[in-house]
Amino acid sequence: MAEFLNDAKLNIERLKYFQAFEIQLCRLLGGWLAGVARWETKHELGLHIWQNSENSRDLRTRLWELRVTNPDRDVEPEVLKVIQALSLAQHDYELIAGLYLGVKKQLTKAYEAYLKSTYSVYDFPTIPILKRLIATNHEQLQWAERELALVTDKGEKKRNMQRWLRYTEEVLSAVGGIDGQGEKADLPLPPPAYSSVLPFAEAKRDERFKVQMSGMPMPDKAERLEWLVWQFANYAAEMQAAETLATMLWETEDMSWEFYFDIARHCWDEVRHSKLGETRLAELGYHVTDFPCSVGSYAWRQLFDPVIRYCALTYIIEAGSFKFKHESYQDYLAQGDTESAQAIMFDIVDETMHVRWGSKWVPKLMEHYAYTQTLEDLVEECRAITAKHSVAPAQRVAIEKELAARA
Ligand SMILES: [Fe+2]
Ligand SMILES: [Fe+2]
Repeated sequence: MAEFLNDAKLNIERLKYFQAFEIQLCRLLGGWLAGVARWETKHELGLHIWQNSENSRDLRTRLWELRVTNPDRDVEPEVLKVIQALSLAQHDYELIAGLYLGVKKQLTKAYEAYLKSTYSVYDFPTIPILKRLIATNHEQLQWAERELALVTDKGEKKRNMQRWLRYTEEVLSAVGGIDGQGEKADLPLPPPAYSSVLPFAEAKRDERFKVQMSGMPMPDKAERLEWLVWQFANYAAEMQAAETLATMLWETEDMSWEFYFDIARHCWDEVRHSKLGETRLAELGYHVTDFPCSVGSYAWRQLFDPVIRYCALTYIIEAGSFKFKHESYQDYLAQGDTESAQAIMFDIVDETMHVRWGSKWVPKLMEHYAYTQTLEDLVEECRAITAKHSVAPAQRVAIEKELAARA
């Protein structure tokens, strides 16, 4: 990092780099979400995807006040060089080391240096924003230290991690440092034979899970406990929706900042729905690994491009789930199961927002990927694709009912 000078123009340039790094971290974490095996790690990365997007938003809001209408100009290509270089990691522990002990640590130090050096009266509005970001990033860094100590349990892994961290630091230095204000140089070469392993065709799970392609069969609704457990095990399986959305953060390039911001939130919501299922199962005396873990929904969606993936998810799967969810809500209320009813009501609220984002972004994605058919035709194509490929019984029932109602 170049020496911090107290200069408004320089500080604006720095804030531009910071916001770009925060949102691009979301994109690369998204690219890797499905490829990370450890369940608890996935949950944490989902949270960080959302937190980083909020960090970026707060910095951009301040930049707007500082009269910067295009915070990405000249900065995004430099930050993308770093993110592309770091996407070549071969192991999840390398990726985490590079993004946290490399990029996040330097970002956080730069926020601290900015705070110390800026005009405490003239630039006051930046101060509480950076204080909040520093607190969030410190928590993320503490997590990463614990995580890496846990997963790099062998000498070879430790050596790979240290080599990757050195490479990360060289890459950052080549673009002029985390705030872009230092001298620039050619990018270093990655370690021999390192090439991108993204995107992941299958969602990884750790060794505690019994992985299978199909979803759990739907039980008889009269079997109340079986039904309850099935429903919340299905929520736990929504990690796959998060993993599908996360792939779009990475695979869909050159969209506006707002697209990544919305998808990051959508992705985190689905991680949270998975947690909702896991938490309710635990309250009922089960662990998420007590049930077969389906990865088929992620796998079939990866057969298609991001437009189909996102349209099938929002227009068909999410939009088609409300009737079933409202019935479940009423059933749980009637049974006096307030906890389950509340879980479902909060989920309905999130899903309403997700369907709105579908209508906002599917047409834009169609433009981006040069789709020439109408939106209606695309939706029908996605319905047919979901009917053919879906491995989730509740999704199939919803489609069959929809088609029967039309006949
Ligand atoms: Fe969900
Ligand atoms: Fe959703």
